[in-house]
Amino acid sequence: MNNETNQENNLDPFGRDNERSSFSGRLGYVLAVAESAVGLGNIWRFPYLAAKYGGGIFLLVYLILMLTFGYVLIVSETTLGRMTRKSPVGAFGKFGKSLPFKIGGWINAIIPMLIIPYYSVIGGWVFKYLFEYLRGSTEALADDNYFTSFITTGASVEVWFLLFSLVVLLIIVAGVEHGIEKVSKMMMPILVILAIIVSIYSVTRPGALEGVKYFLIPNFNNFSWMTVVAAMGQMFYSLSIAMGILYTYGSYMKKEVDIEKSTSQIEIFDTAIAFLAGLMIIPAVFSFFNGDPEKLQAGPSLMFITLPKVFASMGMGRIIGIVFFLLVLLAALTSAISLAESCVSTIEDQLGWKRNIASVVIGIIIVILGSFSALGFGMLDFVQILGMSILDFFDFLTNSLMMPIAALSTCILIVYVIGIDKIVEEVEQSSKFKRKGLYKFFIKYLAPVCILVILVSSLASVFGLIKF
Ligand code: PFF
Repeated sequence: MNNETNQENNLDPFGRDNERSSFSGRLGYVLAVAESAVGLGNIWRFPYLAAKYGGGIFLLVYLILMLTFGYVLIVSETTLGRMTRKSPVGAFGKFGKSLPFKIGGWINAIIPMLIIPYYSVIGGWVFKYLFEYLRGSTEALADDNYFTSFITTGASVEVWFLLFSLVVLLIIVAGVEHGIEKVSKMMMPILVILAIIVSIYSVTRPGALEGVKYFLIPNFNNFSWMTVVAAMGQMFYSLSIAMGILYTYGSYMKKEVDIEKSTSQIEIFDTAIAFLAGLMIIPAVFSFFNGDPEKLQAGPSLMFITLPKVFASMGMGRIIGIVFFLLVLLAALTSAISLAESCVSTIEDQLGWKRNIASVVIGIIIVILGSFSALGFGMLDFVQILGMSILDFFDFLTNSLMMPIAALSTCILIVYVIGIDKIVEEVEQSSKFKRKGLYKFFIKYLAPVCILVILVSSLASVFGLIKF
């Protein structure tokens, strides 16, 4: 860290830690966050949610939420991280020691611990598909029932899940994430190019145009409250909001980096990848299944059923399948590494445990919780929590319940404890805060109201009080 920054640190009213290392500049910061943000959420989760919850109307609601609500939350978390130089538990702790501050900090920190187990299960599915493409099973993978019979045979899912988790943990323990990051940064442009090629192929299939229309043109008849609830959960998930990650990344950000500009760039990049994934998958569903509503509702399995069909029909299906699943695997790995890293550093910082021990603890959590999710479609399929499979339940618990609470705690901290003007001041250390008016209004009024509406709706729908 240079002298100038150290000097700034000394001036900081929040007593920042001089020894904290930092990103080299805006580009370094944007790339690092994009690395963590672009993952299974964009390629696997976004298309199936868009297909399930209304197509164009989902896309529209997602974009509006991202540009307003998401924007405000990213700026808030990043600024709090930069201001306090701490990850969430420490950041909340700087402003108070009482229970509400502890809860606010810990809820942000615990969410990644609940996400990473089931994230690794899906990572395992991707691993398996890559392996099968390498083995030349292109036709078999394109079979309608392949995916279902795979996830219902417990042992195989468990093995691939464990393999994925092992790779993540080995990388964390060996501390070689930088190597992986370099590889995946090179891979990112390839992923984009491949996504463009596959999208073009997908949208030009016979009957695919209906799918393009379904995905792009909002149809208000498809709107339901669930569209908003799902879009908001997805926004949190995809942009890594309300999981402590942005606090942590913000804490490594230099004072001169423009928070607004970097937030916009991260949002554009993350959304562009999700949008391309939607274009790859949704028109293909229309083409291969004649827009069958049941297939559109397929949920988590959509990517694993539709894309293999597209690839098999492309001629060079095996090569494309290998490259595609390799890239998705890398995107999933870099995201999982940053999830695991955030869990490990919370344990190190807050409990004072050594890195290796913290990694083992996280490993145990991943194996136990992940195994439940992995087996939830097979031998544990009789376990239904609130009508959901175990994996879906963890997804719902984190995205629809815990993340809104975490986001609400950030809003309350800013509005009622720190003061919005302090946040504005911190943002303006690097440049003029152009959307200051929007920010102030949103953080105070709209964000809390949106969050409460979503929370109440999620709870009511789960307990069958309202039907969407
Ligand atoms: N944003 C990632 C995705 O869309 O796949 C998921 C994620 C990764 C969330 C890393 C949080 C995180 F720390």
